[in-house]
Parts: sequence; C-alpha cells; structure tokens
Amino acid sequence: MAAGRVPDPRAGRRTSLETAVTTAFDPLDLAGLHLPNRIAMAPMTRSRAYGPGLSPTAATAAYYAQRASAGLIVTEGVQPSPVGQGYPDTPGLHSAGQVDAWRAVTDAVHAGGGRIFAQLMHTGRIGHPSLLPGGLHPVGPSAVAARGRIHTADGPRDLVVPEPLDEDGIRRTVGDHARAARNAIDAGFDGVEVHGANGYLLHQFLAPNSNTRTDAWGGTPQARARFAAEVVAAVADAIGAHRTGLRVSPGNPLGDIDEPEPEEGYLALLRALEPVGPAYLHVVETGGRALTLELRKRFPGVLILNARAADRPSGPQELALVADGTADMVAYGALFLANPDLPRRLRTGGPFNTPDRATYYGGGERGYTDYPALAAEPR
Ligand SMILES: Cc1cc2nc3c(=O)[nH]c(=O)nc-3n(C[C@H](O)[C@H](O)[C@H](O)COP(=O)(O)O)c2cc1C
Repeated sequence: MAAGRVPDPRAGRRTSLETAVTTAFDPLDLAGLHLPNRIAMAPMTRSRAYGPGLSPTAATAAYYAQRASAGLIVTEGVQPSPVGQGYPDTPGLHSAGQVDAWRAVTDAVHAGGGRIFAQLMHTGRIGHPSLLPGGLHPVGPSAVAARGRIHTADGPRDLVVPEPLDEDGIRRTVGDHARAARNAIDAGFDGVEVHGANGYLLHQFLAPNSNTRTDAWGGTPQARARFAAEVVAAVADAIGAHRTGLRVSPGNPLGDIDEPEPEEGYLALLRALEPVGPAYLHVVETGGRALTLELRKRFPGVLILNARAADRPSGPQELALVADGTADMVAYGALFLANPDLPRRLRTGGPFNTPDRATYYGGGERGYTDYPALAAEPR
C-alpha cells in the first residue's frame, strides 16, 4: 500500500471532564489534511459538464469556489470511465482534457482557501445505452435490471438489463477507478471519494437483489463486499489511503436496491478495509442510527455523516451529531447547494436560501452560481 494506517481521529477527543465540547465549527485533522471546520459539502450531480468531452466549465469552478468555506467539498459524481456514466452531461476524469478542465476547478477552490475531493461514481446498471458512446452498454454484477426509468435525451426510458462483468471486466473496472484517482490528483484534487452508495455499481455488488453471482464476488455478504473493497484498495494504492474516502448508504432502496439485513455486509466491508485504512467513511444514513453507530465503532478513520431526513433536507439540527460524538463531521447536500456560505449561516442560525429543485440538474447559471451569500460582515 502507498500509505500506512490513518491515525485515530478520536484519540484526541475531549472528555466530559473538560468544559469545551467539540463542535462542527472546530477544525479536524483528516489524515494530515487540516480542515478548518467539520461541515462537508455532500456530493451532488448537477449535469452541467458542458465543456469539451464532458468536462467542467468556468461556471463549475465558480460554483465550487463559492463554497470554499466548507471544511471539505466533495464534488458531484464523476465517471471513472465512459461506461460509468449514467446521466446526461456528467463530467469524467478519464481523459487528458477532463484533467485539465478540473485543474481550473481545484485551483479556484484552493485560491478561495478550500479543500476538494472528487467523487468517483460508476453508475453500473443505472444508465442507458443511448447515453453512452461507441455502442457501450451499462454493466453490473449480474444480468438483473433495476425496476424504474431513467432520464435520457429522448425522455424517460426503462432501465436496461446490464451486461454482467466477467472477471476481466471486474479487473478493468477496478483499474479504471485507480487510473481516475491518479487523474484526480494530477488535476489538483486533495483526494478521492469512492461512491459505494445510492444504488450505483459498488452498491449493486453489495446488495443481494442486484448481485446474484455465485463466484468470488457474490453468494455471501463477505463475497458481495469484495468488489467495493477492491476498488477502495486500488484507489488507496494509487494515491494513498490518506487521500481516499468511501461513501456508503446501508439499506438505501435507491436504484431498486433491497438490503433487508445490511449489517453483516457492511461490517465485512470494514473488515476487508482494515489493512487499507482509508481516511474516511461517509455514511448516508437512510436506515436506523444503530448501524451508523456500529460502523463508527468499527471504523478507525474519520466518520462523515449525512443524516437524511425523510421530510426535509438535513439542517442545523444535524450539527448536534458532532457535539454528541455520533460523527466527526456532518455533510449537507441540498442546503449547501442553495447556500454557498453555509458554514457561516449555520454558525449564525440562518437565514437560509431555499433549494430550487427545478434547477438541480442541467440548465445554466440559474440555481447554480446565483444563490446569494450573506452580505459581508461589518468591520
Ligand atoms: C441535486 C442532487 C444531486 C445529488 N447527486 C449525488 C451524487 O452525485 N453522489 C452522491 O453520492 N449523492 C448525491 N446526492 C445525494 C446527496 O449527497 C445527499 O446524500 C442527499 O441530498 C441528502 O442530504 P441532504 O438532506 O443534506 O440534502 C445528490 C443530492 C441532490 C440534492
């Protein structure tokens, strides 16, 4: 492995005998990367990669630079290979042109004092041949289609039966993630988050209804965890475990995933990652708190929690998750999309701009770079 184990971020946690409690506004050492606060911008696909060959634009750079006060920005899902693309106009990190275009984004964020990880998102069976170049067809662990439809240039279409990855295909796909991770570092990113959540390729391997394999990558929770562990290990080997994070969403039904008993598989995944030692685990909490707490207990690195609420985007209430020790860091999606200066607004208790769902995906600068920041503080 290129890097050793990550130091335990909880080693320095204050005890109840001390008066001060760690809050989301305190700094955090993310495996050697200094974060000025514990508020992360969650990854959000925006489908605006209008640059040549699916690359980000000057507007992308402006959008992320506006949000540089995050302790950590995690980008929108970025495909590690052409076949990993599931939605229109999402950016990649598999060509030289894309690397150059991303460099302008990371430069802008760093110039604004921020830190930024690229989220590598291979959508697997969530995709459509009409979105893919050169006759490519979506791939997956098994020939099992997700129920549901996907947005294409010709409107919504049924999801297709994916081409199951054979052993060579698995090795190629793992290698694509490692190469894209190296590209991310070349492009100036501070690290990479591997997307193992929300019904995409890694999650499809983890779940028993999308992975019906009987070889070394399926059949038991341990075997189903193998692909995700191999991808994380390959990325860590390529760029260092201290620059590698993993996002998971145990039990999340998105993408027609059914994980009735997720615990065993995710604990097996953490065990497989013990010799790798990724810097962080980013949990999208869609089920109960108990599994989150179990993962926190077993994972020695930083735990980022995106606590999804059924009826609203996560908000100021979630700050308490750092203070009460549930997580080291909290991630915000919709609220960060709509509030470029979110840490400041959280500190002052608002007010908050309201996210506009109509401009989430595609379109121009409206709903992208035009959400206002609060007026400058008086001197
Ligand atoms: C517009 C939009 C796009 C999203 N795209 C991604 C993505 O590319 N990768 C990912 O892991 N999660 C994605 N998510 C999920 C968010 O990261 C987050 O988990 C979700 O919005 C719940 O958090 P919140 O209540 O703070 O918004 C997306 C969410 C939104 C609103």
